[in-house]
This record gives sequence, C-alpha cells and structure tokens, in this order.
Amino acid sequence: MPDFDLAIRGGTLVTAADTVRADLGIRDGRIAAIAERIADATRTIDASGLLVLPGGIDSHVHIAQESGPGIVMADDFASATRAAAAGGNTCVMPFALQPRGSSLRAATQAYRALAEGQCHIDVAIHLIVSDPTPAVLGQELPALIAEGYTSFKVFMTYDDLVLNDRQLLDVFDLARGAGARVMVHAEGYDTIRYMAEKLERAGETRPYGHALSRPQLVEREAAHRAISHAELVDLPIVIVHVSGEQAMEQIAWARSRGLKIHAETCPQYLTLTAEDLKGRGADDPMAGAKYVCSPPPRDTASQEAIWRGIQNGVFELVSSDHCPFRYDDARGKLNPRGQQSFRYVPNGLPGIETRLPILFSEGVSAGRISLNRFVELTATNHAKLYGLYPRKGSIGIGFDADLTLWDPNRRETIRQDNLHHGSDYTPWEGFSVTGWPVTTIARGTVVAEDGRVIGDLGHGQVLDRTIDPALRPTG
Ligand code: URP
Ligand code: ZN
Ligand code: ZN
Repeated sequence: MPDFDLAIRGGTLVTAADTVRADLGIRDGRIAAIAERIADATRTIDASGLLVLPGGIDSHVHIAQESGPGIVMADDFASATRAAAAGGNTCVMPFALQPRGSSLRAATQAYRALAEGQCHIDVAIHLIVSDPTPAVLGQELPALIAEGYTSFKVFMTYDDLVLNDRQLLDVFDLARGAGARVMVHAEGYDTIRYMAEKLERAGETRPYGHALSRPQLVEREAAHRAISHAELVDLPIVIVHVSGEQAMEQIAWARSRGLKIHAETCPQYLTLTAEDLKGRGADDPMAGAKYVCSPPPRDTASQEAIWRGIQNGVFELVSSDHCPFRYDDARGKLNPRGQQSFRYVPNGLPGIETRLPILFSEGVSAGRISLNRFVELTATNHAKLYGLYPRKGSIGIGFDADLTLWDPNRRETIRQDNLHHGSDYTPWEGFSVTGWPVTTIARGTVVAEDGRVIGDLGHGQVLDRTIDPALRPTG
C-alpha cells in the first residue's frame, strides 16, 4: 500500500514565513510529509510552475443570514462554499445572527442546521449578538463560547443590531471573562441617522447618498469609541472592514499605546470608490446600488492609505465581507423601499470568490506585498486570530491538507458569467488580474479544479473551536 493518499509534486510551497521548493505527502486529509521528493502515493498532482499555498480562510462572510423584511441573501451554504472553493478558499467563517428578542442559542442551532451537510469546504461559525439580555450574557453566550463558538460580532450601527455603549461594555466584559474574540463593526448609529435624514430632506435618495451619509469620520469616531471601551475592559478586539485612513489612524494610535487592537480590511476598500455608487455611467439610476456596502468605499487616496496599512502591519486580515444580494431582484438591491431611498438598499457586496485573485494581483503581482505576506493576510492570521491554528492556516506536518495550487502568471478577467455565487452580478466585472487559483484541495480532497467545483456537497464540516489560551484571563 502506498505511503500517501496524495502527493503534490514539483511546486513551490509558500507559508507566512518561507518559500521553498518541496513535495507534499498527504495522508488521511492531513499533511504527513514535506520532502525533496515524494514518490509513493495513490494519486499524484503535478504542481510544477505553481505555488502551493495554504487554502484561503475567509473569516468574514455572510451566508444565508436574515436580512430584514422581504430581503433575501443570495447565497445559501451550498452556493457560498462552492464559490469560495472555486476562488481558492478552504474555510469560511459566516455568522449566526441573533434576531433581537430571540434566543441566541436557538438562532445558532438553526443556523448550524442550515450548514450541516451543505458545504463544499469547512465552515466555522461566529455569532452576532444583537440583544445582550441577562439570559444571553448570563447563560447562552458563555455556554456557546465554551462549546466552540469562540468569536462574535457586535454592531455600533443598523436599527436591528446596534448596541449602545453600556451594552458594548457589558459584552466586552463577558468576552474578557470567557476568553472570546470580539469583532466590532465600527460606524456610529446616530451620526449616520442624522446624515441620512438630512440628505433625504434635501432630496438626495440615490444609492450615492449612502456614501454621503457615512463619511469617514463616522467610522473614525466609532473606532475610537470601541477602542476606548476595549481599553477600559482590557479586551483585545478586531475592528472589521476598515475602509479609510481615519479609522486606520485610530488603530495605529491605539497600538502605539500598547493596546491589542486588530484590524481587517477588504478588497472593496482597495479597488472601489464612492464614485462607483453613482453607477459607473450606466443609464440605470439604481446601478450604484450594486456597490452599496458599509462602510462605503472611499477614494483613491484612501485606497493608497489602506495599502500602506497592509504594508506596515496595521492590517492583519484581508477578508471579503461577502454579503451577497441579487441586483435585479425585488428581494435584493432593487427592493421597492430601496428604490425610494438609499437607506433601504441592502448593504453588502458579493466577493467570496474574487478576494484572493484581487489581493494577489493588486498586492503580489503589482509588487506591493510579498508572497509570504499574502499568505499571512489571507490564511495564517485568520486561523491564528479565530482559534483554528495550528489545524489550519499554514503548511506543516499535521496541518489539515487545505491547499491552493496557484498560477502566479495566469491572467484572467473577472466575469459574472464565470463565478459560482448566487448573486447576479460582481462589482468587479471586467477587472483584470494576474494570478489565479487553479486547484483547491480541502482536507486532502480536490474540491475545485480550473473553475469547476468537483467536490461533494457535504465534504465541508462545521468546525468547533477551542478558546485561544492567549485570550483566557489570568488570575
Ligand atoms: O455592507 C456590509 N458590510 N454588509 C455586511 C454586514 C456587515 O456589516 O458586515
Ligand atoms: Zn459589519
Ligand atoms: Zn460583514
């Protein structure tokens, strides 16, 4: 019997630390050998001329999430993980959302049931806490954290999700005691409402009004407030989807004071601008709705600032914040209320399949970041921050054989027609990239090859995590 189920031969292995020419031997879904030459395997994949990367981990995606009356998210677990696999990912992290007035545990169980048996790649579930009642803080959340839902997101805006400052402090305090990782959506609720109402009164209802209603200071103020709360409670937090220089400066300032503030950004803040919300010259007055997300994309100066933050280490994570709605759909971007005002256009962009090619092309191929930094930003740091390391996020003996064979020279043009998500558009239609995922291997099984998803639905597992010892309180 051969020593290995699968050998990957002739490729260049890239981790966050090293770039080496070596073969990989895979047994029972894990990496069992790294050697100059591995010959004895049931199946061999020739990776000559390709990079062998840890599979992408996208730690911020929204899948089949409740999105308000009459609005339906465009992806279920099957379509989202299909698109993720085609885009070179081997693990994604969506959110079980607690609707206000409901049990967090019930919402989490129902959400997990949607995922079980419906995934092409592994999934680890974060929570969204929208209603920190005494029962949630006292029983449900601590128990769920102990069971393996070790991270959750809180919002400083959105009518149905916003927590006030006292609630933020209470959940931060609980997270500190329980050793959970908290993700913060930092935009100020009242400033947005003030701006939105003022714009509407002045007759500004176009999708572009969304960008005008959320200037950078809205994000800067909330980031500062979240950082202050985190300092008071002595809790490391992750500020997600940072869009511009002003919030980034707050994070750098906090770090310079020794605070553990982590930061995530997304491809939309590197490649899109608020001008896109005007519709890119299309005759359709609603076309800009395709780019409505929160925070909104800014301007080219902000893009350059975010690149600097990626280069100098302010950002540890680049996620997609995949939040897909169909455009030409009364249950999506073109819902009747959304056509009355930007305020009702569902927020979010599809990006689960395009995150890696865009970051590789604009980052590595354009000479802005190294290959190793790419791996760190798209896989290793996600695993480390969210309790998946050392099972996932790198290439080493004992790690899950989650790998992406990557052609660094392949040129492609992103087209909706070639994507696998449930949305009916991509914000990056016609965007040219250099560098492309050619084969995705999830726990030793090829799940996507050259744009075709070939793995079985059900191959992906819902992962439980353990509390990160670094987050466990001492004394
Ligand atoms: O517009 C966005 N980002 N929608 C997704 C929900 C969120 O706030 O992450
Ligand atoms: Zn958010
Ligand atoms: Zn999000």
